[in-house]
Amino acid sequence: MDFYSGLFSVGSLKVLLFSVISYFVYVYLLKPALHYIYIVIHYHGFHYQPKSFLLGHVKQIWPNFPFPIEMKTVAGNLYEKMLKIVGPNPSRSLSVLWISIFPVVFASGHEVVEKILHRTNLKRPHFCKFLGLGDGLISSEPDVWKVRRKLIEPFFTTKKMRDHAKHMYEEVKSFGQQLDKEVGKPVDLVHQIHTSTLNIILKTSASIPLEDSIEDKERYVELVSTVERNAVKRAANPLYQLDWMFKLFQFSQVYYKAISSTVEIINKMFRRRKQLLKDSSSNEPENQDLVGLLEGKVDEQGLLDELITLIGAGHDTTAVALRWNLFNIGNHYDVQEKLYKEIIQFFPDDTPIDDMDKLKECVYLEQVIKESLRLNPSVPGTTRVLEEDIMLNDERLIKGSMVNVSSLATHYDPNVYPNPTKYDPDRWSPENASKIPKTAWIPFGYGPRICIGYRYAMVELKIYTAQIIRKFSLRSTRPHGSVSMLYEVTFQPSLPLEIIMTPRNNNQSNF
Ligand code: HEM
Ligand SMILES: *[C@@H]1O[C@H](CO)[C@@H](O)[C@H](O)[C@H]1NC(C)=O
Ligand SMILES: *[C@@H]1O[C@H](CO)[C@@H](O)[C@H](O)[C@H]1NC(C)=O
Ligand SMILES: *[C@@H]1O[C@H](CO)[C@@H](O)[C@H](O)[C@H]1NC(C)=O
Repeated sequence: MDFYSGLFSVGSLKVLLFSVISYFVYVYLLKPALHYIYIVIHYHGFHYQPKSFLLGHVKQIWPNFPFPIEMKTVAGNLYEKMLKIVGPNPSRSLSVLWISIFPVVFASGHEVVEKILHRTNLKRPHFCKFLGLGDGLISSEPDVWKVRRKLIEPFFTTKKMRDHAKHMYEEVKSFGQQLDKEVGKPVDLVHQIHTSTLNIILKTSASIPLEDSIEDKERYVELVSTVERNAVKRAANPLYQLDWMFKLFQFSQVYYKAISSTVEIINKMFRRRKQLLKDSSSNEPENQDLVGLLEGKVDEQGLLDELITLIGAGHDTTAVALRWNLFNIGNHYDVQEKLYKEIIQFFPDDTPIDDMDKLKECVYLEQVIKESLRLNPSVPGTTRVLEEDIMLNDERLIKGSMVNVSSLATHYDPNVYPNPTKYDPDRWSPENASKIPKTAWIPFGYGPRICIGYRYAMVELKIYTAQIIRKFSLRSTRPHGSVSMLYEVTFQPSLPLEIIMTPRNNNQSNF
């Protein structure tokens, strides 16, 4: 009796309560706050100090902050500012951008890429969640990510890629039929290409027939670009970072509405898939698509998150890469003719372009695509939250800081790419390419969290490019270098990437 009353005396309860509360205050409030202050002091020692301590570089990126301005200006400006701050100059490969009082380290150059995108740094920052992709691979925390990445990797094996390539070619063929209407006049194939790449990812990941649900697909493409623009707008505003604070602003309603509409469409596709499978007495083996691969291994929400992520990440990036690629080819007649000769050598007339081994032999095709992704990467880079301190160029980057690896600045490093703004696929010829460090070309990122769809995207780009080039000759209406890149999560052109297509052989049916 004595023993128990002693243990639970009011005095000791108070002490216990006090210790528990102090522990939580320390761990969840004080420690992060102190660490954050440490980070702020540390990075204020770096060069390129912002003019205002409180606003940081916000005013430079967004001149009349916090009043709304034309988003196009912010986006374009943001990219130019970032390049100016980090610079393609390798002696300035480390720099700090201050979003108000939050420092973002900018790193570029092949020497630093490997150290940052290392397996000790698997954490992506909070703003990756602004894309509304739930806990899918892009935004998931390292613990969830490790499990899911292993589960999804089998979707991209060589054997699966052979199936994917067949679906891709099937789509590319019917995509080509739409192009017959566009010959002889300047067109930016933005609409056709984005819905076409969406057809492919929906077919391979969720067994939605290529020509099915057209209206929903078109709405989805529109919504994704809205969601991306909204995400940039949110990420650039320090007041929009915390969910509860963001919800106080009117803009959050528009933002959340767009996200929930995309989720709704993917949910609908999910149900459509179920219904189609039920209707068909098909002997199509299960586990064919991504849903089949994950069913029973992750919960329903997880499955939906991964599907949304793969569909979102898998169509827009590839579409924008293809548009830049056609535009670049259309500006270089010599490259185009050399490419054409290679393509018809391996795929004459209407031979299906879906043989992975033959595609691998088209070395010049790969060079052309690599050079376009160097000059015009689909996304500006990738970001990590450091999980431990690292030393880079004699400067210490500390655990918990946000580090942005700029693919653009890395791709324009004159020490690796002489005359970096020049489009020159010969840089990637077998003998020249061996001199380029592997971390100097990072359109798909690098390390354990490298783009999971890297090979998928390359095969898709090759099939589209080969089919278009063997049927049409292309001429761009604007010179290379006259169109700048706007940052809208993916890099969108500031002007339409117009090309004029001329059928190569009037004797044969085009597509
Ligand atoms: C030209 C097309 C593409 C480009 C330029 C691109 C670029 C990227 C980049 C830069 C990353 C971040 C890598 C890093 O942090 O190191 C990424 C991640 C990712 N990409 Fe892609 N991507 C493309 C196509 C695709 C496709 C076709 C898919 C799916 C079929 C896809 C799915 C993903 C996923 C799921 C992630 C997150 C990976 C992870 O964190 O484990 N991407 N992509
Ligand atoms: C850093 O790069 C990422 C690309 O992963 C981009 O989304 C983000 O906006 C950049 N961060 C800043 C602060 O510019
Ligand atoms: C290698 O690069 C140089 C410089 O761009 C170029 O002159 C040369 O033709 C390239 N070699 C091949 C085989 O393309
Ligand atoms: C034109 O078409 C005919 C019949 O299909 C074919 O025999 C001929 O070889 C073609 N000519 C060229 C130049 O492709």
